[in-house]
Amino acid sequence: MEGLGEAARLVRAARRGVAFTGAGVSAESGIRTFRGENGLWKQYDPVKTATLSYFLKDPAVYWMVSRERWHTYREAQPNPGHYALAALEELGHLAGVVTQNTDSLHLKAGSQRLVELHGNGRTVRCLDCGASEPRSEVQARLESELPPHCRTCGGIHIKPAVVFFGESLPPAAITEAMGLARECDLMLVVGSSLGVFPAAEVPLLAAERGAPLVIVNDEPTPLDELAAVVVRGRSGEILPQIQLLAGG
Ligand code: APR
Ligand code: ZN
Repeated sequence: MEGLGEAARLVRAARRGVAFTGAGVSAESGIRTFRGENGLWKQYDPVKTATLSYFLKDPAVYWMVSRERWHTYREAQPNPGHYALAALEELGHLAGVVTQNTDSLHLKAGSQRLVELHGNGRTVRCLDCGASEPRSEVQARLESELPPHCRTCGGIHIKPAVVFFGESLPPAAITEAMGLARECDLMLVVGSSLGVFPAAEVPLLAAERGAPLVIVNDEPTPLDELAAVVVRGRSGEILPQIQLLAGG
């Protein structure tokens, strides 16, 4: 596969590499991506289902979608791509993973240093009183209660700790991600269309500093021409090969 050897050479030489991942790294775990022909945003309107201002007006629209997609998230398992990234961290080539995903699959695969830029779907928080509870416990109420009510204040503005459009990213996550990008000696971008900001600033910062950029993606991205190497294809197949060739 074109570029695999060069990608592995750059990964093998890295001691403070960073992996920056998007929905594509979880596609082979059965979780749909957002864009592309089968993308979520083709089926659901991102304004009505993932924008804060709309959610505050009518939270039921978000929860209807979340209720039907919950079983996919609950059953999803890490794929060989997630495990390869955890192994590359263990082997000392990666300092950590910065992900836009909220599916917890990097955690399940054993990644130790994980920055969840867009939050996580594990916890649900009340915007009115601040109370929080596990997302799994809300699912039980969704059959009879739509939108679900906060168990503490009874409000209807409880939402997963996932960053909606129009919401700012967790400041600590941004600071940590930018810190990693500033220090890294390799930026390995996997499964992202790199079109959403400020998240996409992370790989950009590394590239602007001159850290080598390796992109593993099954379609072209806006950063391809800045990359030292692009490996076109599925991350679940490519990352284990990179790990193997990098001596892992
Ligand atoms: N292997 C490698 N790349 C893949 C695979 C795969 N198996 N499957 C899909 N891809 C690529 C697609 O070609 C696409 O370029 O992964 C990318 C996924 O892009 P998006 O669906 O836009 O996902 P992402 O980049 O993570 O979106 C960023 O947008 O909607 C918001 O908050 C949401 O975190 C998300 C953000
Ligand atoms: Zn509340």
